[in-house]
Amino acid sequence: MDALVWLTAELKLQWQNPRSPYIVGMFHDLCKIDSYVKVIDVEGVEYFGLDEPKGEESHWDYNNDTLIPGHGAKSVQLLSQHMQLTEEEVLCIRYHMGAYEKDEWNYYDRAIKKYPNVLYTHTADMIASKIIGV
Ligand SMILES: [Fe+2]
Repeated sequence: MDALVWLTAELKLQWQNPRSPYIVGMFHDLCKIDSYVKVIDVEGVEYFGLDEPKGEESHWDYNNDTLIPGHGAKSVQLLSQHMQLTEEEVLCIRYHMGAYEKDEWNYYDRAIKKYPNVLYTHTADMIASKIIGV
């Protein structure tokens, strides 16, 4: 969230609703809420090539039993159950993965043209995950 709020302040980004950088920043990855399961190490089973049981100090794995697939679309779907989103918020969350979602470039391009904050949302996500989060 901090990166998008920071970009908004630095670049004087305008949003449909002033709350949007906070909402988009906090909830764009809501999809991850049930995407991972805790794996407790046991002796004789390798995780990441190692057999070093650490018990509760464990690893995480993908949850194959989720009910809703997807990433940005799933976040929108889950968040929409709790609040009315602006169209800009929907598109920022939906396309926050940017060009990583290679099959959706046309949709992503149109979303950016209508709401440039879609691009800034992806940029903030990259700053947070690739620069600050390292
Ligand atoms: Fe994400």
